[in-house]
Amino acid sequence: MIEAVPLADNVVLRRLTEGDAEALLRARVRNRDHLRRWEPRRPEEYYTLTGQSHRLKDLLRQMADGRTMPWALADGEEIVGGMTLNNIVRGPWLNADLGYWIDAGYTGRGLATEAVLEVCRMADQDLGLHRIAAATLLDNVASQSVLRKAGFEQVGTAPDYLEIDGRWQAHRLFHKILNDRPALRF
Ligand SMILES: CC(C)(COP(=O)(O)OP(=O)(O)OC[C@H]1O[C@@H](n2cnc3c(N)ncnc32)[C@H](O)[C@@H]1OP(=O)(O)O)[C@@H](O)C(=O)NCCC(=O)NCCS
Repeated sequence: MIEAVPLADNVVLRRLTEGDAEALLRARVRNRDHLRRWEPRRPEEYYTLTGQSHRLKDLLRQMADGRTMPWALADGEEIVGGMTLNNIVRGPWLNADLGYWIDAGYTGRGLATEAVLEVCRMADQDLGLHRIAAATLLDNVASQSVLRKAGFEQVGTAPDYLEIDGRWQAHRLFHKILNDRPALRF
């Protein structure tokens, strides 16, 4: 039984699982144009079942290693968004990078904000992290609004930060400090 957190409009936030490759493929094909401007360029294989199966397997391996935590936003059988904590680092940093997307047919309903808040709660309470970082393109006003509504603050701007839509682009850097618990010492 997968734990599913209800969000608005019958959408739930739940962990990605082994059986999600076909729904991921449908979502990625459906949202190819919607996401192009905001994401790294994807090879053609990404839009095939083989490509999505490999990517899913890799994500689940990283999850087992504690390096990544991937969630889906799901409406019944369909995946309508994704939230991922990447680059989870422990020790004195307890940090992760947050990435997300929402299906074109589901934007503007507050789903990203709700899901980011829930991911922050789980990062704090379940994963024991201290800080979540996120970066947006300079003109990604919707994403900046999501982060601010979810309690993130802008901490700077970085030139040539990520390769998005085929070119290195500057980003606004945001973070949210989750708690002031001490880091575990070994
Ligand atoms: C960014 C994204 C995740 C937002 O998802 P969402 O579920 O629509 O987000 P929410 O409904 O919680 O909030 C969106 C906010 O952006 C605002 N917004 C949306 N489009 C906007 C625009 N073009 N200009 C200004 N504000 C905009 C909305 O009004 C809302 O803010 P408000 O509640 O203060 O009015 C979604 O648009 C998306 O997947 N975009 C493409 C991928 C992407 O950018 N991922 C993030 C990379 S950093």
